[in-house]
Order: sequence, then structure tokens, then C-alpha cells
Amino acid sequence: MRKNFGKKTIITPLPVVILGTYDENGVPNAMNAAWAGQIDAHQIVVSLSKHKTTDNLERCGEFTVSFATRKTAVESDYFGIETGRKVNKIEKAGFHAEEGEYVNAPVFAEYPLTLECRVVELRPDTEGYILIGETVNMSADESILTDGKVDLGKMEPIMFDSSMNKYRVIGEIVGDAFKDGMKLR
Ligand SMILES: Cc1cc2nc3c(=O)[nH]c(=O)nc-3n(C[C@H](O)[C@H](O)[C@H](O)COP(=O)(O)O)c2cc1C
Repeated sequence: MRKNFGKKTIITPLPVVILGTYDENGVPNAMNAAWAGQIDAHQIVVSLSKHKTTDNLERCGEFTVSFATRKTAVESDYFGIETGRKVNKIEKAGFHAEEGEYVNAPVFAEYPLTLECRVVELRPDTEGYILIGETVNMSADESILTDGKVDLGKMEPIMFDSSMNKYRVIGEIVGDAFKDGMKLR
């Protein structure tokens, strides 16, 4: 038996990305976004309502994308329930912002994997904006590398479970991509 849910939409896994921007005074801000994805080898897309972050993106045109991890789950959730319009979230969380090497946007030391991106389009839509960004550099802390590659098992990124409003950890390897299906070919 299957149960119908009508229009309810669950795409899984939804990532927990952290958008890093500077405000008009150069104060770093971080925002949690789960409605995000990758649309080609170098472009990302995020569905956004109007926030301090979108004001910063409109003005600055550059941002960082970091990935929430098991270790940073509490702070990452905080970045999604508080606004940089009222508080310096980075100070409150005890995080450390460094200047991006390739873009004018903050890189947070506590996140081990970060994309530095330029805004390609911040397109208004009915509920806010669709942000399309192009990655100009990705950097990773050595602690999450295995043989020079990003190792998600070490990194322990979390995903947003939109069915139960929970965060879940990603990491276990259960197969080899482009290979396992060969058994059935
Ligand atoms: C799990 C989670 C996912 C979220 N995903 C999004 C999202 O994809 N798009 C969006 O506009 N807001 C999203 N939010 C809400 C923003 O993060 C929130 O409104 C935040 O306070 C905005 O910060 P800012 O005003 O400092 O930019 C999410 C919040 C949480 C907790």
C-alpha cells in the first residue's frame, strides 16, 4: 500500500548550506539554506526569501557557500533562526571569519569545506529570489581529505530532513557510482 500526500514535495537529501556575505559595514553574516542544489559542474542554485543575506548579495555580488557538519549543527541551525539584521551572528556563535581569497565574502574557519562564488543571477520570483552562483574556488581543510580528495566520511556533512524537521548525518558508503549497475547490464 502507498499513501498519497498530494503536492507535498520532498527532495532528499536537501543540503544544509551556509551562505556567507558581508553587510554594508563589512560585518560578516551567515545564513542557513536548505533549498539548494548544483546545476552544472560549477554553478549552484538556491531558492531564497528576502533576508539580510539577499540585501548583501544584491549589493556585493559575491558570497561563500559552506556546508554544515555534525560538529557545527547547533551553530548552523542558529544561522537559520536568527537574522543578521539584529545581531552579529558570527560573534554570538563564537565563529571566526576570514577574508575570502578569491571573493569579497567571509570564509568561516569552523566549516571545513567552502565554495567561493560570484552571483550570476539573483532573479526575483513570486516568493523571493532564485540565486544562481558560479564557483571560482573551492577550499577544504586538510583534516577532511583522503588521498587529496574531499572525504565526506571525515567531514560528516548534515542534511535537512524536511519531513521531520531534523538534521541527519551523511557519510556511509553503500556502493560504487557508475560501477555497481554494471552487474545488471
Ligand atoms: C533548516 C533551515 C533551512 C532554511 N532554508 C532556507 C532556504 O533555503 N531559503 C531561505 O530563504 N531561507 C531559509 N531558511 C531561513 C533563513 O536561514 C533565516 O530566515 C535566516 O534568519 C536568514 O538570515 P539573515 O536574515 O541573517 O540573512 C532556513 C532555515 C533553516 C533553519
